[in-house]
Amino acid sequence: MNTEILSINEKSIEKAAKIITSGGLVAFPTETVYGLGVSAYRGEAVENVFKVKGRPNDNPLICHIGSIEDTYLVSDDVTDLAMKLLKEFAPGPITVVVKKGDKIAKEVTAGLDTVGIRIPELQSARDFISACKEPIAAPSANTSKRPSPTDAKTVFEDIGGKIPLILDDGSCQVGIESTVVDCRGQIPIVLRAGKITCEDIAKVVGECQLAGATSEVRSPGVKYTHYAPKCSMMAMKMPTSKEVAEQVALLENQGETVVVLGENSLGSEISTKNFIGLGESVGDFMRSYYTSLRKAETIGTMILCVVPFSETAAEGLYNRVEKSTGGKII
Ligand code: TXA
Ligand code: MG
Repeated sequence: MNTEILSINEKSIEKAAKIITSGGLVAFPTETVYGLGVSAYRGEAVENVFKVKGRPNDNPLICHIGSIEDTYLVSDDVTDLAMKLLKEFAPGPITVVVKKGDKIAKEVTAGLDTVGIRIPELQSARDFISACKEPIAAPSANTSKRPSPTDAKTVFEDIGGKIPLILDDGSCQVGIESTVVDCRGQIPIVLRAGKITCEDIAKVVGECQLAGATSEVRSPGVKYTHYAPKCSMMAMKMPTSKEVAEQVALLENQGETVVVLGENSLGSEISTKNFIGLGESVGDFMRSYYTSLRKAETIGTMILCVVPFSETAAEGLYNRVEKSTGGKII
């Protein structure tokens, strides 16, 4: 199949909406990562999303809508808690999980009776979704387990030739996927960490829990290895630059070609051939994380990601680093 990449505008949105309402797939930008969209009402079409990504079919998809007035398209039971969080954080990088509406195809939710609802912050994404007049089920537009795509070119690398159209709106500003929050009970439970933290949510509704790794898996996706580069990878949590240099030397002695990812200033503090600066702030790190993994894997055999922030300051980032390294954080 020929895959077109078109700048997102009125004309390309019209074309994309036609593809969606005839049961096709379109990749589109959001502020977090690029999504692989399909109508949430068309079960057969949804099955193709799982095929294109190579995604296990017990991992449900999030439903995207264009505005807060459209939640009824996805669920008849949007709880007060869900509405409160949407009013505070949406449009934005948050997904609320509530009871599923009947029109949503069972393939979307992998048979669960719950559904995730998200309203992207990126205006062009909302324009596209609204033009389809049906909720858009969309996972990240990468091959399953690979780092998520934050630009159109990366979407093409992974699934070019398998879908007809990629809508292009440049690079994603957030860079990691939305915070997924179970809103069915009295207290919100964060199932997948993101830019919006548990603390941010607690400030609005008084309380918030982070689903622990050992608790019952309620967000099916969290049990899979994810976001992993093709080469080996490990991470260091708030080390000194001397500790980083020692770790690089150790790995090099083991025959690895090491690529260090870290705060921009670290590059000049340690002498290493292969260094990729992720920026200065937590936001910078999240924005450049996935692209940098994809770049680093073409250079080295071992990625060493140096995180200069505490876990509470960078909940979403640590979650992705944990997943990409399979827990190898020292
Ligand atoms: O930022 C994002 O959320 C991006 C963009 C495209 O919107 N989407 C995304 O989708 O990251 P995906 O499919 O890669 O990840 C969805 C996550 C998975 O961990 C999945 O298990 C969880 O959300 N999820 C979806 N529906 C759920 C539900 N009903 N209950 C619990 N978890 C759910
Ligand atoms: Mg994904």
